[in-house]
Amino acid sequence: MSKILTTESGAPVADNQNSAQAGIGGPVLIQDQQLIEKLARFNRERIPERIVHARGSGAHGYFEVTDDVTGFTRAAFLNTVGKRTDVFLRFSTVAGNLGAADAVRDPRGFALKFYTEEGNYDLVGNNTPVFFIKDPIKFPDFIHSQKRDPFTGMGEADNVWDYWSYSPESLHQITWLFGDRGIPASYRHMNGYGSHTYQWVAEDGSAYWVKYHFKTNQGIRCLDAGQAAELAGQDPDSHQRDLHQAIERGIFPSWTVYVQLMPVADAPDYKFNPFDLTKVWPHADYPLQRVGRLVLNRNPDNVFAEVEQAAFSPNNFVPGIGASPDKMLQGRLFAYADAHRYRLGVNHTQLAINAPKATEANNYGRDGYSAVNAGGRAKNYEPNSYDGPRQTDAPLAAPTAVAGWTGTHSAAQHAKDDDFFQAGELFRLMSESEQERLIANLAGSIGSVSRDDVVERVLPFFHAADADYGRRLEAAVIALRAEAE
Ligand code: HEM
Repeated sequence: MSKILTTESGAPVADNQNSAQAGIGGPVLIQDQQLIEKLARFNRERIPERIVHARGSGAHGYFEVTDDVTGFTRAAFLNTVGKRTDVFLRFSTVAGNLGAADAVRDPRGFALKFYTEEGNYDLVGNNTPVFFIKDPIKFPDFIHSQKRDPFTGMGEADNVWDYWSYSPESLHQITWLFGDRGIPASYRHMNGYGSHTYQWVAEDGSAYWVKYHFKTNQGIRCLDAGQAAELAGQDPDSHQRDLHQAIERGIFPSWTVYVQLMPVADAPDYKFNPFDLTKVWPHADYPLQRVGRLVLNRNPDNVFAEVEQAAFSPNNFVPGIGASPDKMLQGRLFAYADAHRYRLGVNHTQLAINAPKATEANNYGRDGYSAVNAGGRAKNYEPNSYDGPRQTDAPLAAPTAVAGWTGTHSAAQHAKDDDFFQAGELFRLMSESEQERLIANLAGSIGSVSRDDVVERVLPFFHAADADYGRRLEAAVIALRAEAE
């Protein structure tokens, strides 16, 4: 037998189809609790969407250690081959709002929460190993240039390229984005990357700089610009549909997880600044070492509760894993939890999707809006003589040596650091046909810019990366702009 319908306070509802009135045809009565509560709650269903990465899809699964990495990190969830840890992964696009189409040219988010026995470890990455900028102070301007213009209310190619024309460090990521991998066919058919450099610390205190790579076992599949435009129109939810249906059918997507490890002593003299997010570490210098396997095997029961309310923060580390001095990462260590306090409230860490599962949170943080776990009778100050939770005195990560003067410094330049070399390397790695598609995609976008000075500022970057890249793109842009006149 079905349950009876009740109000939120549990009282039976007599009529859910007709609101109470003062007589047939008379005005509606404010004493109709079901009507008032229903309308009021409906008005409050939406919460602020994420300022970026608003559109996403999530799934539960597990991470399994396949290779011994205890010589490099003492993180407990990585300490035994065969050990499994529950995870929740949220994929996303970046620029679109909550209802935006999935099949668009945009980086994809790859945000992973490991529910470890030492607390939740969040690795908030993308499907790209690099990023557009290397200083967090530029992030709000960069994102503004990619989203809707305040006057026209539309995305504007002029804004996108105007901003990039002053940010030559973006060229590596631009080359990636306008290449074949810029529009994945689905979330299952793309890689994930931690992107930043992080720190691993072993039991004996030895420290390594680490980069994470999640290689899809489904194979890489991409859409070209035409296929994507058609799919985005036909099925705006194409990524969500693909992921949801695959998991419902028992086809569980998986990724093989690798790391690149750099002994900390290498960092000062490495040819690229290892903390510059616009650069990769060539695999020839730091080969991929396999760590484990990530499997997604369960859909969320409720998208709002588990996907919309999921809160990932790069500052959720566990012992044995820590931050690096990457300036972008440092900015992100602040930005995410701050966004969560605004978007979800101070007690978002108590929501089921965000709370630790394999351990419990014990601290003296209290109260605030919607506190569920309010601490009961326990003392709310520390130190105390009531056997409350105590600090461990065990450092979580290794110390980092610093020197110099405070100031607004630009990133340290290493021997081979410039804004263009790695973009050129990526171009030269592509097949002839991929280069052709890259040039056509870029020319299509730059060709729609209305201002000559923006085009003139940006084209030299491509020439600087590779003479062939620059020459072919310039010719394509000139041809397209001539056609448009
Ligand atoms: C300084 C640079 C950055 C800042 C200030 C920043 C800030 C933010 C903010 C405020 C959110 C929304 C969080 C929320 O409401 O839950 C977000 C989401 C996200 N960001 Fe960033 N971001 C930066 C760079 C990056 C980079 C470099 C990556 C990838 C390597 C990245 C990946 C993501 C992902 C995957 C999400 C969505 C997380 C989710 O699924 O809930 N962001 N970012």
